[in-house]
Amino acid sequence: MGFKIAVVGATGNVGREMLSILEERGFPADEVVAIASRRSQGTEASFGAKVLKVQALDNYDFSDTDICLMSAGGAVSKEWSPKIAAQGCVVIDNSSAWRYDAAVPLIVPEVNADAVSGFTKKNIIANPNCSTAQLVVALKPLHDRSRIRRVVVATYQSVSGAGKEAIDELFSQTRAVFVSDPIEVKKFTKRIAFNVIPHIDVFMEDGATKEEWKMMAETKKILDPKIKLVATCVRVPVFVSHAEAVSVEFEDPISAEEAREILREAPGCLVVDKHEDGGYVTPYETAGEDATYISRIREDPTVENGLLLWIVSDNLRKGAALNAVQIAELLVNRQLIAPKHQAALAAD
Ligand SMILES: NC(=O)c1ccc[n+]([C@@H]2O[C@H](COP(=O)([O-])OP(=O)(O)OC[C@H]3O[C@@H](n4cnc5c(N)ncnc54)[C@H](OP(=O)(O)O)[C@@H]3O)[C@@H](O)[C@H]2O)c1
Repeated sequence: MGFKIAVVGATGNVGREMLSILEERGFPADEVVAIASRRSQGTEASFGAKVLKVQALDNYDFSDTDICLMSAGGAVSKEWSPKIAAQGCVVIDNSSAWRYDAAVPLIVPEVNADAVSGFTKKNIIANPNCSTAQLVVALKPLHDRSRIRRVVVATYQSVSGAGKEAIDELFSQTRAVFVSDPIEVKKFTKRIAFNVIPHIDVFMEDGATKEEWKMMAETKKILDPKIKLVATCVRVPVFVSHAEAVSVEFEDPISAEEAREILREAPGCLVVDKHEDGGYVTPYETAGEDATYISRIREDPTVENGLLLWIVSDNLRKGAALNAVQIAELLVNRQLIAPKHQAALAAD
Protein backbone atom coordinates (compact mmCIF):
# COMPACT_ATOMS: atom_id res chain seq x y z
CA MET A 1 0.00 0.00 0.00
CA GLY A 2 1.25 3.45 -0.87
CA PHE A 3 1.14 6.92 0.61
CA LYS A 4 -1.38 9.71 0.32
CA ILE A 5 0.32 12.92 -0.80
CA ALA A 6 -1.10 16.44 -0.97
CA VAL A 7 0.48 19.18 -3.08
CA VAL A 8 -0.49 22.62 -1.74
CA GLY A 9 0.10 25.33 -4.36
CA ALA A 10 -0.63 22.81 -7.12
CA THR A 11 -1.61 25.53 -9.62
CA GLY A 12 1.70 27.40 -9.21
CA ASN A 13 5.04 27.02 -11.01
CA VAL A 14 6.56 24.82 -8.32
CA GLY A 15 3.38 22.87 -7.49
CA ARG A 16 2.82 21.88 -11.11
CA GLU A 17 6.41 20.70 -11.31
CA MET A 18 5.93 18.71 -8.06
CA LEU A 19 2.99 16.84 -9.58
CA SER A 20 4.93 15.97 -12.70
CA ILE A 21 8.04 14.88 -10.77
CA LEU A 22 6.00 12.66 -8.40
CA GLU A 23 4.58 10.95 -11.49
CA GLU A 24 7.88 10.78 -13.45
CA ARG A 25 9.78 9.20 -10.55
CA GLY A 26 6.99 6.74 -9.75
CA PHE A 27 6.66 7.95 -6.16
CA PRO A 28 4.88 5.20 -4.17
CA ALA A 29 1.62 7.12 -3.77
CA ASP A 30 -1.85 5.56 -3.81
CA GLU A 31 -3.43 8.96 -3.95
CA VAL A 32 -2.22 12.42 -4.92
CA VAL A 33 -4.37 15.46 -4.11
CA ALA A 34 -4.00 18.90 -5.74
CA ILE A 35 -4.71 21.84 -3.42
CA ALA A 36 -4.57 25.62 -3.95
CA SER A 37 -6.50 28.69 -2.85
CA ARG A 38 -10.28 29.08 -3.11
CA ARG A 39 -9.70 30.96 -6.37
CA SER A 40 -8.64 27.69 -8.02
CA GLN A 41 -11.19 25.36 -6.42
CA GLY A 42 -12.66 23.05 -9.09
CA THR A 43 -10.03 23.86 -11.73
CA GLU A 44 -7.89 21.04 -13.10
CA ALA A 45 -4.25 20.04 -12.56
CA SER A 46 -2.36 17.40 -14.55
CA PHE A 47 -0.82 14.42 -12.83
CA GLY A 48 0.73 12.33 -15.62
CA ALA A 49 -2.15 11.13 -17.80
CA LYS A 50 -4.62 11.85 -14.98
CA VAL A 51 -6.48 15.08 -14.31
CA LEU A 52 -6.96 16.12 -10.69
CA LYS A 53 -9.70 18.49 -9.50
CA VAL A 54 -8.09 21.23 -7.43
CA GLN A 55 -9.40 21.48 -3.86
CA ALA A 56 -9.32 24.52 -1.57
CA LEU A 57 -6.82 24.51 1.30
CA ASP A 58 -9.22 25.89 3.90
CA ASN A 59 -11.74 23.05 3.35
CA TYR A 60 -9.20 20.25 3.37
CA ASP A 61 -8.80 17.65 6.14
CA PHE A 62 -5.20 16.31 6.29
CA SER A 63 -5.85 13.64 8.91
CA ASP A 64 -5.47 10.73 6.43
CA THR A 65 -2.67 12.37 4.38
CA ASP A 66 0.93 11.22 4.93
CA ILE A 67 2.99 13.95 3.28
CA CYS A 68 2.14 17.51 2.27
CA LEU A 69 4.39 19.16 -0.29
CA MET A 70 3.77 22.82 0.51
CA SER A 71 4.43 25.46 -2.11
CA ALA A 72 2.09 28.37 -1.52
CA GLY A 73 4.37 31.07 -0.10
CA GLY A 74 5.62 32.00 3.37
CA ALA A 75 2.43 33.52 4.81
CA VAL A 76 0.30 30.49 3.90
CA SER A 77 2.97 28.15 5.25
CA LYS A 78 3.32 30.02 8.56
CA GLU A 79 -0.40 29.71 9.13
CA TRP A 80 -1.04 26.23 7.72
CA SER A 81 2.08 24.08 8.15
CA PRO A 82 1.73 23.73 11.96
CA LYS A 83 -1.99 22.90 11.60
CA ILE A 84 -1.27 20.27 8.92
CA ALA A 85 1.66 18.87 10.91
CA ALA A 86 -0.54 18.61 14.01
CA GLN A 87 -2.78 16.24 12.02
CA GLY A 88 0.17 13.82 11.71
CA CYS A 89 0.99 14.79 8.13
CA VAL A 90 4.68 15.58 7.45
CA VAL A 91 5.02 18.97 5.75
CA ILE A 92 7.86 19.55 3.28
CA ASP A 93 7.80 23.30 2.82
CA ASN A 94 9.24 25.32 -0.06
CA SER A 95 8.91 28.78 1.43
CA SER A 96 11.38 30.55 3.73
CA ALA A 97 8.92 30.36 6.68
CA TRP A 98 10.69 27.49 8.54
CA ARG A 99 14.21 27.33 7.08
CA TYR A 100 15.96 29.10 9.94
CA ASP A 101 14.03 27.39 12.76
CA ALA A 102 16.51 25.25 14.73
CA ALA A 103 13.79 22.60 15.24
CA VAL A 104 13.20 22.22 11.48
CA PRO A 105 15.72 20.36 9.29
CA LEU A 106 16.74 22.20 6.10
CA ILE A 107 17.57 19.45 3.64
CA VAL A 108 19.33 18.91 0.33
CA PRO A 109 19.48 15.10 0.09
CA GLU A 110 22.85 15.00 -1.72
CA VAL A 111 24.37 17.11 1.07
CA ASN A 112 22.82 16.51 4.51
CA ALA A 113 20.36 13.61 4.18
CA ASP A 114 21.05 12.38 7.73
CA ALA A 115 19.70 15.59 9.25
CA VAL A 116 16.21 14.69 7.98
CA SER A 117 15.54 12.51 11.03
CA GLY A 118 15.12 15.74 13.06
CA PHE A 119 11.74 16.29 11.36
CA THR A 120 9.87 14.67 14.25
CA LYS A 121 10.25 17.77 16.45
CA LYS A 122 7.73 19.77 14.41
CA ASN A 123 6.70 17.36 11.61
CA ILE A 124 8.02 20.03 9.22
CA ILE A 125 11.02 19.84 6.86
CA ALA A 126 12.25 22.89 4.96
CA ASN A 127 13.44 23.05 1.38
CA PRO A 128 16.14 25.66 0.72
CA ASN A 129 16.05 28.68 -1.52
CA CYS A 130 16.55 27.75 -5.19
CA SER A 131 19.92 29.51 -5.49
CA THR A 132 21.24 27.79 -2.35
CA ALA A 133 20.17 24.27 -3.42
CA GLN A 134 22.23 24.17 -6.61
CA LEU A 135 25.19 25.89 -4.93
CA VAL A 136 25.51 23.38 -2.06
CA VAL A 137 25.10 20.37 -4.39
CA ALA A 138 28.26 21.53 -6.19
CA LEU A 139 30.18 22.73 -3.11
CA LYS A 140 29.63 19.67 -0.88
CA PRO A 141 31.93 17.20 -2.74
CA LEU A 142 34.68 19.85 -2.96
CA HIS A 143 34.27 20.70 0.75
CA ASP A 144 34.70 16.98 1.55
CA ARG A 145 38.08 17.07 -0.23
CA SER A 146 39.34 20.43 1.11
CA ARG A 147 37.49 22.58 3.66
CA ILE A 148 35.91 25.67 2.13
CA ARG A 149 36.80 28.93 3.87
CA ARG A 150 35.01 31.55 1.81
CA VAL A 151 32.58 31.75 -1.11
CA VAL A 152 31.79 34.80 -3.26
CA VAL A 153 28.81 34.29 -5.55
CA ALA A 154 26.95 36.38 -8.12
CA THR A 155 23.65 34.89 -9.23
CA TYR A 156 21.81 35.25 -12.53
CA GLN A 157 18.28 34.23 -11.50
CA SER A 158 15.40 33.54 -13.85
CA VAL A 159 11.99 35.16 -13.46
CA SER A 160 10.22 31.85 -12.67
CA GLY A 161 11.88 32.09 -9.25
CA ALA A 162 9.42 34.91 -8.52
CA GLY A 163 6.24 32.95 -9.38
CA LYS A 164 3.88 32.68 -12.29
CA GLU A 165 3.03 36.42 -12.44
CA ALA A 166 6.74 37.16 -12.92
CA ILE A 167 6.85 34.88 -15.98
CA ASP A 168 3.85 36.74 -17.42
CA GLU A 169 5.59 40.07 -16.74
CA LEU A 170 8.73 39.13 -18.70
CA PHE A 171 6.57 37.84 -21.54
CA SER A 172 4.28 40.87 -21.73
CA GLN A 173 7.09 43.42 -21.37
CA THR A 174 9.12 41.69 -24.09
CA ARG A 175 6.11 41.74 -26.38
CA ALA A 176 5.45 45.41 -25.52
CA VAL A 177 9.02 46.32 -26.54
CA PHE A 178 8.55 44.69 -29.95
CA VAL A 179 5.18 46.32 -30.69
CA SER A 180 6.13 49.68 -29.05
CA ASP A 181 3.44 49.46 -26.35
CA PRO A 182 4.00 51.12 -22.96
CA ILE A 183 5.93 48.86 -20.53
CA GLU A 184 3.98 47.93 -17.39
CA VAL A 185 6.06 47.22 -14.26
CA LYS A 186 4.10 45.32 -11.57
CA LYS A 187 5.95 42.37 -10.06
CA PHE A 188 9.53 43.63 -10.34
CA THR A 189 10.84 47.01 -9.18
CA LYS A 190 12.16 47.93 -12.64
CA ARG A 191 11.60 46.71 -16.18
CA ILE A 192 12.94 43.15 -16.54
CA ALA A 193 12.68 42.77 -20.34
CA PHE A 194 16.13 43.36 -21.91
CA ASN A 195 17.45 44.40 -18.49
CA VAL A 196 18.97 42.93 -15.29
CA ILE A 197 17.93 43.89 -11.74
CA PRO A 198 20.37 43.60 -8.80
CA HIS A 199 17.58 43.21 -6.25
CA ILE A 200 15.76 40.04 -5.10
CA ASP A 201 13.57 40.08 -1.97
CA VAL A 202 13.63 42.96 0.55
CA PHE A 203 16.61 45.08 1.63
CA MET A 204 18.22 44.35 5.02
CA GLU A 205 19.85 46.89 7.36
CA ASP A 206 23.41 46.19 6.11
CA GLY A 207 22.46 46.87 2.47
CA ALA A 208 22.30 43.21 1.46
CA THR A 209 19.00 41.84 0.17
CA LYS A 210 17.16 39.03 1.97
CA GLU A 211 17.91 36.67 -0.95
CA GLU A 212 21.64 37.33 -0.43
CA TRP A 213 21.28 36.77 3.32
CA LYS A 214 19.35 33.53 2.68
CA MET A 215 22.19 32.10 0.60
CA MET A 216 24.64 32.79 3.43
CA ALA A 217 22.41 31.53 6.27
CA GLU A 218 21.23 28.42 4.40
CA THR A 219 24.70 27.38 3.20
CA LYS A 220 25.86 27.54 6.83
CA LYS A 221 22.90 25.48 8.07
CA ILE A 222 23.08 22.83 5.32
CA LEU A 223 26.80 22.53 4.67
CA ASP A 224 28.99 24.07 7.38
CA PRO A 225 28.50 27.02 9.78
CA LYS A 226 32.21 27.90 9.40
CA ILE A 227 31.91 28.78 5.70
CA LYS A 228 31.92 32.53 5.02
CA LEU A 229 29.70 33.45 2.08
CA VAL A 230 28.77 36.70 0.41
CA ALA A 231 26.33 36.93 -2.50
CA THR A 232 25.02 39.43 -5.01
CA CYS A 233 21.67 38.21 -6.34
CA VAL A 234 20.53 39.45 -9.73
CA ARG A 235 17.31 38.86 -11.66
CA VAL A 236 17.83 38.32 -15.40
CA PRO A 237 15.35 38.08 -18.30
CA VAL A 238 15.44 34.28 -18.53
CA PHE A 239 12.28 32.21 -17.98
CA VAL A 240 13.69 29.13 -16.21
CA SER A 241 17.00 28.12 -14.53
CA HIS A 242 19.42 30.05 -12.40
CA ALA A 243 23.13 30.50 -13.12
CA GLU A 244 25.83 31.37 -10.59
CA ALA A 245 29.39 32.66 -10.99
CA VAL A 246 31.13 31.31 -7.90
CA SER A 247 34.58 31.95 -6.46
CA VAL A 248 35.66 29.54 -3.68
CA GLU A 249 38.65 29.68 -1.32
CA PHE A 250 39.79 26.38 0.23
CA GLU A 251 42.06 25.55 3.17
CA ASP A 252 44.25 23.27 1.04
CA PRO A 253 45.22 23.50 -2.62
CA ILE A 254 42.85 21.85 -5.09
CA SER A 255 43.52 21.94 -8.82
CA ALA A 256 40.89 22.58 -11.47
CA GLU A 257 41.51 19.08 -12.86
CA GLU A 258 40.99 17.46 -9.47
CA ALA A 259 37.81 19.49 -8.90
CA ARG A 260 36.54 18.38 -12.31
CA GLU A 261 37.20 14.72 -11.42
CA ILE A 262 35.47 15.06 -8.03
CA LEU A 263 32.44 16.81 -9.50
CA ARG A 264 32.14 14.23 -12.30
CA GLU A 265 31.56 11.54 -9.63
CA ALA A 266 29.40 13.63 -7.29
CA PRO A 267 25.68 12.89 -6.82
CA GLY A 268 23.40 15.32 -8.64
CA CYS A 269 26.31 16.99 -10.51
CA LEU A 270 27.10 17.00 -14.23
CA VAL A 271 30.32 18.56 -15.52
CA VAL A 272 30.26 20.19 -18.96
CA ASP A 273 33.58 21.95 -19.24
CA LYS A 274 35.30 22.05 -22.59
CA HIS A 275 37.56 24.97 -23.37
CA GLU A 276 35.94 25.67 -26.72
CA ASP A 277 32.99 27.61 -28.17
CA GLY A 278 29.80 26.34 -26.51
CA GLY A 279 31.72 23.96 -24.22
CA TYR A 280 29.73 25.14 -21.17
CA VAL A 281 26.10 25.07 -20.03
CA THR A 282 23.61 27.94 -20.18
CA PRO A 283 20.28 28.24 -18.29
CA TYR A 284 18.16 27.61 -21.38
CA GLU A 285 19.68 24.15 -21.85
CA THR A 286 19.08 23.04 -18.26
CA ALA A 287 15.37 23.90 -18.06
CA GLY A 288 13.48 20.66 -17.42
CA GLU A 289 16.64 18.84 -16.31
CA ASP A 290 17.37 17.43 -12.85
CA ALA A 291 21.15 17.85 -12.59
CA THR A 292 23.22 20.71 -11.28
CA TYR A 293 25.59 21.56 -14.15
CA ILE A 294 29.09 22.84 -13.56
CA SER A 295 31.18 24.56 -16.23
CA ARG A 296 34.11 26.99 -16.49
CA ILE A 297 36.07 25.27 -13.67
CA ARG A 298 39.31 27.26 -13.26
CA GLU A 299 41.97 28.00 -10.71
CA ASP A 300 41.77 31.54 -9.34
CA PRO A 301 45.28 33.02 -9.50
CA THR A 302 44.32 36.04 -7.33
CA VAL A 303 43.83 34.10 -4.04
CA GLU A 304 45.46 31.19 -2.24
CA ASN A 305 43.75 27.86 -3.01
CA GLY A 306 41.00 29.43 -5.10
CA LEU A 307 38.67 27.95 -7.72
CA LEU A 308 36.11 29.54 -10.02
CA LEU A 309 32.93 27.73 -11.08
CA TRP A 310 29.85 28.39 -13.22
CA ILE A 311 26.88 26.53 -11.73
CA VAL A 312 23.51 26.21 -13.52
CA SER A 313 20.32 24.35 -12.59
CA ASP A 314 16.56 24.40 -13.14
CA ASN A 315 15.26 26.47 -10.21
CA LEU A 316 11.80 24.90 -10.38
CA ARG A 317 13.26 21.38 -10.21
CA LYS A 318 16.45 21.03 -8.11
CA GLY A 319 15.77 24.50 -6.73
CA ALA A 320 12.31 23.54 -5.50
CA ALA A 321 10.06 20.66 -6.64
CA LEU A 322 12.66 17.94 -7.29
CA ASN A 323 14.42 18.61 -4.00
CA ALA A 324 11.08 18.39 -2.15
CA VAL A 325 10.20 15.07 -3.82
CA GLN A 326 13.70 13.75 -3.05
CA ILE A 327 13.11 14.62 0.63
CA ALA A 328 9.82 12.71 0.52
CA GLU A 329 11.68 9.75 -1.04
CA LEU A 330 14.23 9.96 1.77
CA LEU A 331 11.46 9.64 4.38
CA VAL A 332 10.05 6.61 2.57
CA ASN A 333 13.35 4.87 1.71
CA ARG A 334 14.69 5.26 5.26
CA GLN A 335 11.32 4.06 6.61
CA LEU A 336 10.97 7.19 8.69
CA ILE A 337 7.25 7.21 7.93
CA ALA A 338 4.68 4.53 7.08
CA PRO A 339 1.40 5.01 5.19
CA LYS A 340 -1.36 6.00 7.63
CA HIS A 341 -3.99 3.73 6.12
CA GLN A 342 -1.60 0.76 6.49
CA ALA A 343 -1.20 1.62 10.18
CA ALA A 344 -5.00 1.93 10.51
CA LEU A 345 -5.51 -1.53 8.93
CA ALA A 346 -2.89 -3.06 11.22
CA ALA A 347 -4.69 -1.60 14.24
CA ASP A 348 -8.07 -3.07 13.12
N1 LIG B 1 9.91 29.40 -8.10
C1 LIG B 1 11.04 28.98 -7.52
O1 LIG B 1 12.11 28.87 -8.14
C2 LIG B 1 11.04 28.62 -6.09
C3 LIG B 1 12.15 28.00 -5.57
C4 LIG B 1 12.17 27.67 -4.23
C5 LIG B 1 11.09 27.97 -3.47
N2 LIG B 1 9.99 28.59 -4.01
C6 LIG B 1 8.87 28.88 -3.14
O2 LIG B 1 7.77 28.06 -3.49
C7 LIG B 1 6.55 28.74 -3.23
C8 LIG B 1 5.68 28.78 -4.48
O3 LIG B 1 6.36 29.42 -5.53
P1 LIG B 1 5.78 29.44 -7.02
O4 LIG B 1 6.88 29.98 -7.85
O5 LIG B 1 5.16 28.14 -7.40
O6 LIG B 1 4.58 30.54 -6.87
P2 LIG B 1 3.32 30.75 -7.81
O7 LIG B 1 3.57 30.25 -9.20
O8 LIG B 1 2.92 32.18 -7.64
O9 LIG B 1 2.17 29.81 -7.16
C9 LIG B 1 1.66 30.04 -5.88
C10 LIG B 1 0.75 28.88 -5.49
O10 LIG B 1 0.31 29.09 -4.16
C11 LIG B 1 -1.11 29.01 -4.12
N3 LIG B 1 -1.67 29.85 -3.08
C12 LIG B 1 -1.53 31.19 -2.93
N4 LIG B 1 -2.25 31.62 -1.85
C13 LIG B 1 -2.83 30.52 -1.32
C14 LIG B 1 -3.69 30.30 -0.21
N5 LIG B 1 -4.11 31.29 0.57
N6 LIG B 1 -4.10 29.03 0.05
C15 LIG B 1 -3.70 28.01 -0.74
N7 LIG B 1 -2.90 28.14 -1.81
C16 LIG B 1 -2.46 29.40 -2.09
C17 LIG B 1 -1.54 29.48 -5.47
O11 LIG B 1 -2.87 29.05 -5.73
P3 LIG B 1 -3.87 29.91 -6.66
O12 LIG B 1 -3.49 29.58 -8.08
O13 LIG B 1 -5.20 29.36 -6.26
O14 LIG B 1 -3.67 31.35 -6.31
C18 LIG B 1 -0.50 28.78 -6.35
O15 LIG B 1 -0.87 27.42 -6.51
C19 LIG B 1 6.96 30.11 -2.68
O16 LIG B 1 7.00 30.02 -1.28
C20 LIG B 1 8.36 30.29 -3.23
O17 LIG B 1 9.12 31.17 -2.44
C21 LIG B 1 9.95 28.91 -5.29
